[in-house]
Amino acid sequence: MEKPTYINGILIVNKDIGLPKTYNPGLSKKMLMAYYLMKMCALKDGVKLKIISGFRSYDYQEKIYNIYVKEFGEEKTNTFSAKPGHSEHQTGLAIDICEDSDKFIGTKEDIWLQKNAYKFGFIIRYPKGEEEITGYKYEPWHLRYVGRKHAKNIYCNDI
Ligand code: DAL
Ligand code: ZN
Repeated sequence: MEKPTYINGILIVNKDIGLPKTYNPGLSKKMLMAYYLMKMCALKDGVKLKIISGFRSYDYQEKIYNIYVKEFGEEKTNTFSAKPGHSEHQTGLAIDICEDSDKFIGTKEDIWLQKNAYKFGFIIRYPKGEEEITGYKYEPWHLRYVGRKHAKNIYCNDI
């Protein structure tokens, strides 16, 4: 991939569309501001949000992907880990919250984010029941910042 792909102003990264190896922006400041506002509001509701994974470079994603492949094999790994150049974490706009395992499902943090994340510009990737489209298992801890306008549209229209 030579340059990043934007559709309607949204940086697109998925199994088909990737990022250049050299795309290395670090964690987005705009996303972080939105995250801290969300974190404060969640705290008021007694919900403690914590980032456990943020920006991941191409090289770092390559390292962890290869470790997973050794442990779980390529087919299984591809259901939960992106190949290098295909992780939203390389955009600097994606964060994992609290716990990146099925233990997160149904926690009060999960329930709060399902209801509120879009108000702060985040969408939850990768949705339940959409595995055929996304190619990944349900990952409600993985938030992708798209800005409030797009997040509301995606949330309200179930896109
Ligand atoms: N867990 C997501 C798919 C990633 O590796 O970017
Ligand atoms: Zn993630």
